Amino acid sequence: MKRTKIKHALNAQEPMAGIHVGGWVRTKRDNKGFSFVEINDGSCLSNIQVVIDHTPEIVETLANVGTGASVAIDGELVESPGKGQKWEIRGTSIKLLGGADQETFPLQKKRHSDEFLRGIAHLRPRTNKYGAIFRMRSELAQAIHKFFAEKDFFYIHTPIITGSDCEGAGEMFRVTSLEHGSQKPVEEDFFGKPSSLTVSGQLSAEMFALSLGYVYTFGPTFRAENSNTPRHVAEFWMVEPEIAFADLADDMDLGEEMIKYLITHMLDHSAEDIELFAKFVDKSLMGTLENILNNPFERLPYTEAIRLLKKTKKKFEYPVEWGMDLQTEHERFLCEEKFKKPVYVYDYPKTIKPFYMRMNDDNETVAAMDCLVPRIGELIGGSQREERMDVLLSRMDTLGLDKEEYWWYLDSRRYGSAPHAGFGMGFERMLMLVSGITNIRDVMPFPRTPKSLEF
Ligand code: 4AD
Ligand code: MG
Repeated sequence: MKRTKIKHALNAQEPMAGIHVGGWVRTKRDNKGFSFVEINDGSCLSNIQVVIDHTPEIVETLANVGTGASVAIDGELVESPGKGQKWEIRGTSIKLLGGADQETFPLQKKRHSDEFLRGIAHLRPRTNKYGAIFRMRSELAQAIHKFFAEKDFFYIHTPIITGSDCEGAGEMFRVTSLEHGSQKPVEEDFFGKPSSLTVSGQLSAEMFALSLGYVYTFGPTFRAENSNTPRHVAEFWMVEPEIAFADLADDMDLGEEMIKYLITHMLDHSAEDIELFAKFVDKSLMGTLENILNNPFERLPYTEAIRLLKKTKKKFEYPVEWGMDLQTEHERFLCEEKFKKPVYVYDYPKTIKPFYMRMNDDNETVAAMDCLVPRIGELIGGSQREERMDVLLSRMDTLGLDKEEYWWYLDSRRYGSAPHAGFGMGFERMLMLVSGITNIRDVMPFPRTPKSLEF
């Protein structure tokens, strides 16, 4: 018999004779002559209640069915006389597929701390909260593809193994091959030169924007930065659109449209899961999301941001000076206290930004932007790219980059160069925004942070 997902059973229009479900037991209550078994199969937040009459055989099976066990149930979908649910299953048979030792199973029915659940990341998707997060993670990824598909962008698969450091921050993981059948790294580089895991697909995406027009890449990126914060991980997913014949204002427009589209999509498609977070994780979640949807993002030149930060009475740990990179406390002040909505800070000093950003006429700032969002901090980082060969070469000289290494990148400026722009959005940070989760480790199936490589 074909399995019916619990989500579909709970949304049924009419009773169903002959239903077959599989799932994990959340609770079991025995009564005289019958038992209630609540099961969840991950398809949705809600459990379905199974009422099953006792026969000697069923009693024997139920004796081994505890929280966490997996079961297969045959029965009928009928209207539930109980409150709070429309449908329940009248079970006719129950099969224990995999038992769970009640002495050791760590997810007994009680609230567990996020900290504790991080230690059992392989089991935490079985809980309500983490089941909801990972369904939302899937939905958000689909929404990203949908957004770009509707806007006629092409999805480009950029490489994970690269020979260049896009951000120039020296935060890369080296890739080495091993001697066949051993754990010993081969001395010679596999590719004939050092290779690393990519920190960003941008440089490759630029080549395709300058060929196909509107493109995006969406995949894993890696940073060997040793920051132990609730917003940084060594492996994360980035969404990187790149658009041709576009400037910084177009880039900011695209970012704002995308963020609003994704929030709207999630409110429509993950309503049940988001409601759980709004109730138990962040009571102000709905307000935060509506506020983002209903207001234009602030657009603030960096120089103006510095002026505001200097002017405020608020005391910062890091003193504010023109030329500095904004620290978390400054970013939070701007979006959470001053404007109380997302803020684009743009036109940053050239000295704190990578080589590829377009030089402004003042020769001091570049056409860069960061989108700062309440509770999250930096959600997007992007720029208009330097399309003028002479300016680009002189920037690379100043920063001491090896131009030979970038011959292919420079070709795009040598032949048919055009203004273009793009940005990167941290996928996990977007998921934190729509779920109210405050630690990035809790929106990743198996987070990768310094000194932690379990699972
Ligand atoms: O600002 P970043 O470093 O920008 C780039 O890499 C550009 N090349 C992107 C582009 O223009 N195509 O990173 C972009 C975003 C950040 O705004 C942040 O949301 C996220 O990626 N991010 C991280 N997320 C989790 N953990 C980390 N260690 C992250 N570093 C950046
Ligand atoms: Mg950045």
